[in-house]
Amino acid sequence: MSTPDTHPVVLGEDAPLFEIMATTRAMRRLAPDPVPDHLLQRLVEAAVWGPSGGNGQGCRFVVVTDRETMARLADLWRVAVDWYLDTLGTVTPRAMSDAAYARMVAAIRHQRDNFAATPALIVPCYDMHVMWDPAHRAGLGGVLRRTLALGPRRVLRMAANSRMLGEGAAASVYPGVQNLLLAARSLGLAATLTIWHLGLEAEFKQVLGIPRHVRTYGIVPVGRPLGRMGPVTRPPAPEVTHRDHWGGPWQPAEGTAEGPTEGTAEGTAEGTAEVSSVVVPEAGGMDGAPSAVPPDVGAAGARPGTQPCRCGSRVNR
Ligand SMILES: Cc1cc2nc3c(=O)[nH]c(=O)nc-3n(C[C@H](O)[C@H](O)[C@H](O)COP(=O)(O)O)c2cc1C
Repeated sequence: MSTPDTHPVVLGEDAPLFEIMATTRAMRRLAPDPVPDHLLQRLVEAAVWGPSGGNGQGCRFVVVTDRETMARLADLWRVAVDWYLDTLGTVTPRAMSDAAYARMVAAIRHQRDNFAATPALIVPCYDMHVMWDPAHRAGLGGVLRRTLALGPRRVLRMAANSRMLGEGAAASVYPGVQNLLLAARSLGLAATLTIWHLGLEAEFKQVLGIPRHVRTYGIVPVGRPLGRMGPVTRPPAPEVTHRDHWGGPWQPAEGTAEGPTEGTAEGTAEGTAEVSSVVVPEAGGMDGAPSAVPPDVGAAGARPGTQPCRCGSRVNR
């Protein structure tokens, strides 16, 4: 399967993971051709492989390809996007230049105006009946007694910060969603995690017939990319890493500065060519080849301090 990709990442089931991670970008410009069911199934399979809190395995997925349903969702999508663009979306994110953000907004508008032609949507959900198993409810008295035994100070702090319960389901869904995004990229597809339907979640759920006890965590449009995929623009990892305590600079221990992708024995797995380290060129001019459609967001206009990601290149022969 081919993409208008200008960064030579080997695609397919054996695609090199680190390069896939370094070049999986949000892609909102999608070709309207249908995505074959076996590929959609593969994406959901990758998502199902994600971990879940307590091994609850309550993730569920609604895959939408029906044109009439897509058209109904497109109307809701437009309301959600327009609200976003008129409110939170009026401010350029700190990590982006105004020019890069303007390109992103143009891509968002393109997606809004063409949403009904989106080939497929995957809606990752969590079944809260799994989270709140009747067996848990039966044991609630025991949970309460055990919690009170922690002492009033800790109980109060726990009550004030009840994120463990609130975020448990979300944290069980998103690892699988990232698997899905990476699988899409490796299969020559593009997919973007979006959450701005959440403000209108009840209406989206109604169109999709999703019951009350099932929460949605995103809408992931999937299709063949029309824009360029390419290196993501992120801060260098050491800049956002603290050693041992907050504020401590990350300093790799002596002799361990280079990772296994730098040609060490671990980096040269059987069946792969010798590993070479590649600095991915700037997005927006990755190999100098013009693209018919601009990238959603190019690294060229990124704020100082962010950079296209450096990844090891491993080519299967
Ligand atoms: C939690 C989360 C929510 C997101 N929600 C949306 C969304 O509602 N709409 C959208 O177009 N993109 C959404 N995105 C995609 C981000 O905008 C995108 O990852 C970010 O701009 C970086 O782009 P890049 O990966 O192409 O560099 C979301 C991403 C995350 C992680």
